[in-house]
Amino acid sequence: MKIGLDDVIAAETRLSEVDGAAGKLTIASYPLEILSQQFSFEQVCAMLLQVGYAQELDTTTIGFKMAAARPRVARYIDHIDQQLARHSVVDAMRAAIAYIPDADDVTTALDLAVAPAVFLPAAIRLSADQAAIPPDASLSHAADMYRMLHGEMPSAAQEKALDTYLLTVSDHGLNASTFAARVVASTGAGLTSSVLAALGALKGPLHGGAPGPVLDMLDAVRSPENAQEWLSAALARGERLMGFGHRIYRVRDPRADALSAALSTLQAAGDIDQARSAVATAVEREALALLKQHKPDRPLHTNVEFFTALLLEALGFPRSAFTGVFAAGRTVGWVAHAREQALHGRLIRPQSHYVGERRQVADNEWLAA
Ligand code: ACO
Repeated sequence: MKIGLDDVIAAETRLSEVDGAAGKLTIASYPLEILSQQFSFEQVCAMLLQVGYAQELDTTTIGFKMAAARPRVARYIDHIDQQLARHSVVDAMRAAIAYIPDADDVTTALDLAVAPAVFLPAAIRLSADQAAIPPDASLSHAADMYRMLHGEMPSAAQEKALDTYLLTVSDHGLNASTFAARVVASTGAGLTSSVLAALGALKGPLHGGAPGPVLDMLDAVRSPENAQEWLSAALARGERLMGFGHRIYRVRDPRADALSAALSTLQAAGDIDQARSAVATAVEREALALLKQHKPDRPLHTNVEFFTALLLEALGFPRSAFTGVFAAGRTVGWVAHAREQALHGRLIRPQSHYVGERRQVADNEWLAA
């Protein structure tokens, strides 16, 4: 029995491969380094969705199709509950996604892939008593998502940074939320049901909820000069340093490199707070040195959450929305996996090992009790 299903192979996929030993991530047959430099998020969406809709989607026309899908789903913005949005913008986004009719055609796939980018900014704005901004089909997906949040156009560096983030997290093997999507798809339920299940799994702090604590740590460190002392004290207290280490990657997480490059572009364009950047640089440098001494046998590297936190903060997303921005990139992966499972997979139905009591009830014993 494998508790947690560690190392169990439960699906065949053409969508992505995580090689933790070599630190390589392949998405839609390309290494992430190539994707992040040469493709847009929309093109990655086309390549992932081709697993289920090869006849309908290609990398040339996908931008128009996703741009047309944004206004289509925007008609559900009116259903976003302001009270729920004040409680949790991610829950409000999930509730709005539930209005997309549950089917498995290409229109549903596209509507779901674009939905978080439309609903999340609307929920953030509603939670702050601001009116939602409708989508603009003439823009790239990343530029429109940014504009629907802030009401103004991003700089070229901001648009590129958000685009890089979305494609970097678009798929990552059989992680918990993707597995949830595949389990639901294996029952024959529609794509909306799969995405809702995946979103539920993503919300947990062990999966998509980690980048907020990285910013809490940087807030607590306050200045570059404090980094060494603060981090040493945290390790001495037995705490883990947020944004370092990974379950699967034993060398540097390739997603960290892609996001670090996007951050450098933001920095060169002056689109990032210099003081925050200086603290982050000092924390990364000191943490890596301290972790080497702290765990000489366990390679601990900067992980994707460290750079995600810095990038999403620089783009003006509130911490409470970080999981929702993750979903804006990952939903296309969930949809593609759900479709792949429905087309080629089998009902997922593992066994459990019963460890409860086995009582022998004598005839009519219950009557006597
Ligand atoms: N800071 C300090 N020590 C650490 C860290 C860290 N960030 N990460 C691991 N260690 C130590 C552990 O305390 C453990 O020490 P021990 O053997 O004395 O108990 C040893 O290294 C091995 O730890 P494991 O828990 O076996 O490492 P695992 O690979 O299972 O954990 C995890 C990975 C959970 C990500 C861990 O590195 C961690 O908690 N990091 C901080 C939180 C974080 O950044 N999470 C986001 C991860 S990225 C993502 O999920 C997309």
